[in-house]
Amino acid sequence: MAKSKNSHALPLLLPTLFFTLLGTSHAGGIAIYWSQNRNEGTLSEACATGKYSHINIAFLNKFGSGKTPEMNLAGHCNPTTNSCTKFSSEIKDCQSKGIKVLLSIGGGIGSYTLASVEDARNVSTFLWNTFLGGKSSSRPLGDAVLDGIDFDIDLGSTQNYEHLARFLKAYSGVGNKRVYLGAAPQCPIPDRFLGTALNTGLFDFVWVQFYNNPPCQYANGNINKLVSSWKRWTSTVPAGKIFLGLPAARA
Ligand SMILES: *[C@@H]1O[C@H](CO)[C@@H](O)[C@H](O)[C@H]1NC(C)=O
Repeated sequence: MAKSKNSHALPLLLPTLFFTLLGTSHAGGIAIYWSQNRNEGTLSEACATGKYSHINIAFLNKFGSGKTPEMNLAGHCNPTTNSCTKFSSEIKDCQSKGIKVLLSIGGGIGSYTLASVEDARNVSTFLWNTFLGGKSSSRPLGDAVLDGIDFDIDLGSTQNYEHLARFLKAYSGVGNKRVYLGAAPQCPIPDRFLGTALNTGLFDFVWVQFYNNPPCQYANGNINKLVSSWKRWTSTVPAGKIFLGLPAARA
């Protein structure tokens, strides 16, 4: 979400478009990014609304190049003092309602890059042990096992995300729980950071950002660019489900 750093409550759907496109697409359910807005309430409250099928906890915004990864949950808690473990029970509560909870890596502000295939492998190991079905003495979100990892890559190197996706997906065979992959590309195809990764076909959920991108967004009452881009996404990009991402509020 490089160009809209403060509007991560996405991709909520504009009702008219949602209903229009639902019949002709793979869409279904609503996903949001949670954590970057102090006033948004708790994770349990978001899940209790019954509106969402997927929640991306944002963001792990420092990783790669051998750096110690760090997460930033804005005002909600401080991972360095271990105060984010309180979300463990809320994550489980959301999951018990059938909502998939993913950790989003990247974001518009941060310091991340995958320097090599080995670096991608190390980051995948870290994510598995720290947030998924592995074990670590340091689990900032406690013992809740997240459903997967969402890639929201807006900066750093464009390389090696296909390897990270492959390494993460391979853990599906290790635990007793599938590892889901999500991605939040910009609408122009191919996405500069995630195009190669998306072409692996390993992504279960793709929330395409149809905003801040004049060539493929709705503007001034004209829906044509958005619709033709949507058709390209759903016909050319191999993914489990494609979501129409629009700002819930003015971006
Ligand atoms: C990957 O992890 C191994 C084992 O901890 C370490 O020796 C190696 O330097 C790491 N590689 C990178 C690129 O960070």
